[in-house]
Amino acid sequence: MSSISAHTPLMQQYLRMKAEHPGTLLLCRMGDFYELFYDDAEKAARLLDITLTRRGQSAGEPVIMAGVPAQALDGYLAKLVKLGESAAICEQIGDPAQAKGLVERRVVRVVTPGTLTEQTLLDDKRDAILLAIAPPKSARGEWGLAWMALTGGGLTLAQCEAAALSDWLARIAPAEVLWPQHQSLPNEPRWPHTTERPEWHFDAALGLRKLCAQLQVAHLDGFGAQALGAAHAAAAALLTYAEQTQGGTLPLLADLRVERAEHSLRLDAVARRNLEILQPLRGEDSPTLLSHLDSCQTAAGSRLLRDWLQAPPRDANVARERHAALQALIDGDLAALRGSLRGMADLERIAARIALKQAKPRELSALRDGLQRLPALRRQAAAFERCALLQTLDAQLDLPPEPAALLQRAIAAEPALNLRDGGVIAADFDSELDELRAIDTDCGSFLMELEQRERARTGIANLRVQYNKVHGFFIEVTHGQTDKVPDDYRRRQTLKGAERYITPELKAFEDKALSAQDRALAREKVLFEGVIEALQPALADIRRAAQAVALLDTLAALAERASTFGWVCPEFVEAPGIDIVGGRHPAIESRVDRFIPNDCQLDEQRRLLILTGPNMGGKSTYMRQTALIALLAYLGSYVPARSARIGPLDAIFTRIGASDDLAGGQSTFMVEMAETAAILRQATPHSLVLMDEVGRGTSTFDGLALAAAIAAQLHDRNRSLTLFATHYFELTDLVLRHPQAANVHVGAAETPQGIVFLHEVREGPTSRSYGVQVAQLAGVPTAVIRDARKRLDALERQHQQQEAQLDLFAASAEIDEAEPVSVPTHEALIEALDDIDPDTLTPRQALETLYRLKALREAE
Ligand SMILES: Nc1ncnc2c1ncn2[C@@H]1O[C@H](COP(=O)(O)OP(=O)(O)OP(=O)(O)O)[C@@H](O)[C@H]1O
Ligand SMILES: [Mg+2]
Repeated sequence: MSSISAHTPLMQQYLRMKAEHPGTLLLCRMGDFYELFYDDAEKAARLLDITLTRRGQSAGEPVIMAGVPAQALDGYLAKLVKLGESAAICEQIGDPAQAKGLVERRVVRVVTPGTLTEQTLLDDKRDAILLAIAPPKSARGEWGLAWMALTGGGLTLAQCEAAALSDWLARIAPAEVLWPQHQSLPNEPRWPHTTERPEWHFDAALGLRKLCAQLQVAHLDGFGAQALGAAHAAAAALLTYAEQTQGGTLPLLADLRVERAEHSLRLDAVARRNLEILQPLRGEDSPTLLSHLDSCQTAAGSRLLRDWLQAPPRDANVARERHAALQALIDGDLAALRGSLRGMADLERIAARIALKQAKPRELSALRDGLQRLPALRRQAAAFERCALLQTLDAQLDLPPEPAALLQRAIAAEPALNLRDGGVIAADFDSELDELRAIDTDCGSFLMELEQRERARTGIANLRVQYNKVHGFFIEVTHGQTDKVPDDYRRRQTLKGAERYITPELKAFEDKALSAQDRALAREKVLFEGVIEALQPALADIRRAAQAVALLDTLAALAERASTFGWVCPEFVEAPGIDIVGGRHPAIESRVDRFIPNDCQLDEQRRLLILTGPNMGGKSTYMRQTALIALLAYLGSYVPARSARIGPLDAIFTRIGASDDLAGGQSTFMVEMAETAAILRQATPHSLVLMDEVGRGTSTFDGLALAAAIAAQLHDRNRSLTLFATHYFELTDLVLRHPQAANVHVGAAETPQGIVFLHEVREGPTSRSYGVQVAQLAGVPTAVIRDARKRLDALERQHQQQEAQLDLFAASAEIDEAEPVSVPTHEALIEALDDIDPDTLTPRQALETLYRLKALREAE
């Protein structure tokens, strides 16, 4: 592009702003549109499906542009952000009508996936998290993490080693990641939207200063965060970026937390996915653990529940406290409490938007209504049986009365949607505004009086005095009467049936009325900003109350779920293990007619269960339900079981099902082995490990050998609490040489009508598999089923002959090489035999058949 000075002044202004926002679509306010230019216009035209035009010239070239109507901006922004784009919004500053020359324009806001604060762009029930990552300064140093939701008000710090980074990404689930320019970050297949920031923004000293300043403390000792240099560096970049995208306004920062990996139950990305905690494996709208649990009455409650599911605390005492609260809620008037929570304003988000000076009139009225409901809520919460957690809420819900009183006085009962429409500030709040409004109201009576007067003066009985937005005030006289119009009437407009006039008196009134309206609007704006300013010191308190409401709502939702589904309070015990009686799968139990409850017993003497049984028998369901019950217990929920005793757990690992990672460029088997490798490296005696059909992604013998070795390793070395589902019967022999392993199987029965799944987990190995029967159930053609049965019989007979020689778990030297078997020929012989129907053969055919069989035998 040619040098800036060759451009028109408007384009110069544009190009200067664009230079400050590379990599971001710049939307420039021009009258009723936001316009994009040049490359941005072409990109936006493609992404948003809007028209690309060429207009005028600048620097000798036509200007390429594309625009979106100003009132539709939010919809377009939502679309851009969904596509992972960022957009800088440039507004006209000052009044274009009064500007001399070019209107001043400034970028007031940059919208990126992680800095969304607009109500219309955000999911109510899910925060957009912005995460900054600071690489270590030395080879052995730790990575620094800092994250927050700009609509939240709390910032979290953490430090970790490179290997743990992907776990943290899965736990935080950020919408956008900030990292330093020119730094290569570890390979991670699932990076979310990333934004590079200048390296010097990641400065530990700057971060510490910024955090202290915003939290108004001298040091971070009180938060246990003083020594986390790497995390401070990340916080510096985070806060700088947050401020820049919000047009220079700092987000609300009322709270600082430090998270440590060892504080929560470890769930890697794979386990989160496989257990369908927040997201279903298939189908966007399929049920998840979250959707099953979330009966919260408020969006803030749903967000808190999501957070609990993301990081269940490892300390059982946290869960015990929550369980005690659930019991108190269940025993009290839970329905009434939930009724009071319904429709509660989202105090947390409103507080954050007030801090950003972005709150709209309806948010302030919602805040007012919400604050007024708190005292009643507080009384209700206090009525529940005393328990520690509910008691802490009492103080949090007790707010000083001033903010509510101010809002009550200042904000109209039902304010307009937008400040520019007026009618936001209540009457009697400001005398100047009241006076300006009075001029407006008096208008009606003045006009009526004028109409009477002019009718009398002119003798025109149907003369009318009126107002419209385009032409202002006028006196309307029908054509038949215009000869009676006095001299001081000036014609303003001619219509088909009438003339419209203005008089000096009416003109003078018009000027006064219109300017009063403008001045009233300007006054309202000043007053509104004053209210926003006056609320700032109260925001931390409001946020605390908001958190109490969210906590109450989340606990009430868990209590409601527990009593609706008949769940029980789990018990935590010191000894490692899991002892579930009558366990159910939380989501599947409500989807099938009759769910069969099952027990699960794992302890130090019984660490590894080999789980066999037919396809569709319920193996995967059983394994998942065990993990979900443990997870629910630790997060503080009741559990779907008759009773559950759970020992200390540090992690849940899963290797379930075959999922291609085509995007990551890995085959099914490669993914399976990579996930298995991660588990073997990391699982401890306190980890719960689910292995579902490991090895089935490769050839039978390879798969079997690997599965056996992996099971043995989990038993001998990791010593984890393991559920190992498999279709390899051979693995049931593991128990012979591994004393802490046991066999269990899911039962099935064959009836004349076909196979019946009992879904019951019993001790011991399964006696047989039912693959062919399941295939029949699934509608595989009868001819194929019959063929498969024959082949199966043949294979089984061969297998029995060899069985004596193959001990899978003997020392490796003892294992004989299994002879390759000539299945096809042998099978051909049997097939030929089976095909013979003696009753239908002629003597000649019988002889020929005999020869054929003999020939087949010789060919073997
Ligand atoms: N305990 C149960 N009670 C009632 N129905 C159940 C139970 N467990 C499983 N089912 C039903 O059986 C179906 C199959 O279960 P699941 O996928 O766990 O079988 P599986 O043994 O893992 O099969 P495969 O070997 O093919 O993977 C489930 O979708 C569910 O509808
Ligand atoms: Mg399965």
